[in-house]
Amino acid sequence: MKLENKIAIITGAGRGMGRAMALRFAAEGAQVVAAEVDRDSGEAVMGEIGGRGLLMHTDLSKVEEIDELVRRTTAEFGRLDILVNNAGVTRSLGFFDVTEADWDWMHAVNARGLFFCMQRAAREMARQKSGKIINIASIAGKGYRGTSNIAYAGTKGAVIAMTRVAAAQLARHNINVNAICPGVTRTHMFDTLMKEIVQKRGVSEEEAVRRLDATIPLGRSNSPDDIAKVAAFLASSDADNITGQSINVDGGLMWD
Ligand SMILES: NC(=O)c1ccc[n+]([C@@H]2O[C@H](COP(=O)([O-])OP(=O)(O)OC[C@H]3O[C@@H](n4cnc5c(N)ncnc54)[C@H](O)[C@@H]3O)[C@@H](O)[C@H]2O)c1
Repeated sequence: MKLENKIAIITGAGRGMGRAMALRFAAEGAQVVAAEVDRDSGEAVMGEIGGRGLLMHTDLSKVEEIDELVRRTTAEFGRLDILVNNAGVTRSLGFFDVTEADWDWMHAVNARGLFFCMQRAAREMARQKSGKIINIASIAGKGYRGTSNIAYAGTKGAVIAMTRVAAAQLARHNINVNAICPGVTRTHMFDTLMKEIVQKRGVSEEEAVRRLDATIPLGRSNSPDDIAKVAAFLASSDADNITGQSINVDGGLMWD
């Protein structure tokens, strides 16, 4: 098992990629601290992994709740080995439709919350002189034209830049920081975006998905587990000498 007895915080673990990572990390032997704002999905995923870890009701847009997340984790388990910064939000918006409220909502979780999670977790990891941080960015952060909206793309560009700077600044503490840039991935977020697109374009959902998949060189969108597999690799000792990278998992949509 790749992650035997590792203590891993996964944010947004109730649904989508976060859920897939919780299942895979638990199967690889980790104790999973599932940080989730939605109580029902958080409880469901903890049930699926047989209570192997801890469920924290955490809103990543609130720094005091991030503090409590890290405090409870170390109080319960005595250490923190892995942080997966996965929680993120978006919706489908045209360039002229983005409001200040949309901007603030997305940045509060995707960029600000992600940074303070890294900072608070890294304080513990620096004390231990080891740790792995995995940020879930997006190919939107590299300018993917099919992004849900420009402000979201900005948050993900920020994640890629912060991944590099954090990797440089935390390397002396033996903390690796990497990002995954998912392409189109079949999750709750995907379903919501699809419904918004279907309404705007007046095509069926099947047709919208078919057209989207046809733009992907390998011909299919990701399953959530496509992302979880790469996250488990980056969290494991197999990736000990990899840091500062932002790895696309997208069937070949982007090269950069
Ligand atoms: N689905 C895609 O096509 C896609 C593509 C690229 C990147 N991403 C990114 O992948 C990550 C996971 O996305 P997903 O598709 O699994 O989304 P999802 O909506 O299916 O799941 C996101 C989870 O995060 C939780 N969450 C949202 N806001 C939160 C907050 N403030 N505090 C705590 N938890 C919160 C939600 O309750 C949910 O369980 C996100 O960062 C997203 O931006 C998704």
